Amino acid sequence: MIDNIYDDKILILDFGSQYTQLIARRVREAQVYCEIHPYNLSIQRIKEFSPRGLILSGGPSNIYAENAPFPDKGILDLEVPILGICYGMQYLTHILGGKVAQAKDREYGNAGINIQDAADLFYGFDTKMPHTVWMSHGDRIDRMPEGFSVIADSNNSPVAAMANTVKKILGVQFHPEVAHTPDGMKILENFLFRICGCEPTWTMASFANQTIRELRESIGDEKVICGLSGGVDSSVTAVLLHNAIGKQLSCIFVDNGLLRKEEAQEVVKLFQGHYKMDFHLVDASDLFLEKLKNVTDPEEKRKIIGREFITVFEKKAKEIGKVKYLAQGTLYPDVIESVSFKGPSATIKSHHNVGGLPEFMKLGLVEPLRELFKDEVRLVGKELGIPRDLIMRQPFPGPGLAVRILGEITKERLNILRNADAILNEEIIEAGLYEKVWQSFAVLLPVHTVGVMGDERTYENVIAIRIVDSLDAMTADWTRVPYDLLARASNRIINNVRGVNRVVYDISSKPPSTIEWE
Ligand code: XMP
Repeated sequence: MIDNIYDDKILILDFGSQYTQLIARRVREAQVYCEIHPYNLSIQRIKEFSPRGLILSGGPSNIYAENAPFPDKGILDLEVPILGICYGMQYLTHILGGKVAQAKDREYGNAGINIQDAADLFYGFDTKMPHTVWMSHGDRIDRMPEGFSVIADSNNSPVAAMANTVKKILGVQFHPEVAHTPDGMKILENFLFRICGCEPTWTMASFANQTIRELRESIGDEKVICGLSGGVDSSVTAVLLHNAIGKQLSCIFVDNGLLRKEEAQEVVKLFQGHYKMDFHLVDASDLFLEKLKNVTDPEEKRKIIGREFITVFEKKAKEIGKVKYLAQGTLYPDVIESVSFKGPSATIKSHHNVGGLPEFMKLGLVEPLRELFKDEVRLVGKELGIPRDLIMRQPFPGPGLAVRILGEITKERLNILRNADAILNEEIIEAGLYEKVWQSFAVLLPVHTVGVMGDERTYENVIAIRIVDSLDAMTADWTRVPYDLLARASNRIINNVRGVNRVVYDISSKPPSTIEWE
């Protein structure tokens, strides 16, 4: 029996590396809980966090630069193991009296390292053959601090990895967290289990159990409302809460009339039919359509939809009665972003959550997923028995089909898009691509083109197909799908969706385009 999944935890101090989140994900994959904090987290906060070990991330700075980021020196006296990665290693070298110098050649890309000491960090590694690692650095270690010895070297880095085994302070010049370091996970596991003595307690089954217990305790007899969107985050949030507090949870699902084909029915079937939640469907489709009449500007559409959603949600919440908390599916990347090394980055995230609601309604927030990465949320969903279709669902924008219908939104145009999108979706699933691509959807364009059907000239709508690969939606590339798939989808759409006589494929990447068309 695991007492507490947060007992053995690792603190990652972020020096601005593009890989910091990857370090955290790898540590979590090894089933150890970890958190990312800015490099200058106070020593008091670090002590309160009480980590079993520290990982200092890489970063773009040079250790001798005027504004080089230095953490509180007190971390060296904590008597917990420290692993410095790249800049983290250079910091440790510098602060402990060694010397960092500019390497003759910048080392970037794959390199082979030779293991000198396979006792701790490289336990289980073959010392007789080189191991591939991913290097990305300009500076290197010229002289190690006292008490350190080389545990791995490479052609360009005589000190590719170093260790002070007494103090349990280690450094690696390369990035064990990236996929280009094939045995990187083994290195991180050696640090976590052999050096820090962590236990692998962070499993999504234990997370679900512990979170349900804690939610029950902290919510007591109070009532909670949760807005369901049909997406994975809000669904997992709702099911966790349902398991914890049953009928004290009320779920509100607003059908804004901008959903995909049969989406609303599926949500009702699952949450009302299967889970038997206190479920409130608000069919506001006519209201939304009315408010969107003659509106063609994308931002205007978003504003209207956001505003109406709040109005409808609030009205329903008032009917439900005395509610104390609002549950939201906020995820860890949103949390880190707001405290990140560089400060909040300019992302498109602001539209993601039900902006403004808590203030509006003076509700407390319950965010049971705020420590999880998206893949962990999916695993929790699986543990809770949520159907795979829902867990693996592609992202769908809050304003729904409104931002995929260019120009005016009418019932008729919504129907055209829904039918075309449903056909595309069937073909994508049939081709086994649904879970491989980031998103795949149809867009209805505001132009008519000439065609012939039988002997008749037609003048009808164009559907654009958008299929993209992406890791996090910040960048994306159009997917090179097989021509046959495009041929089948195009044929079926033109033959079956009345009002469409042309289908085109979007071959733009992000940037400079965006994933959605509006
Ligand atoms: P873009 O089009 O900006 O989309 O490349 C990036 C990701 O965000 C989704 N998206 C939205 N999600 N409300 C949302 O909740 C929105 O207004 C919105 N706009 C775009 C989009 O589907 C993609 O996954």
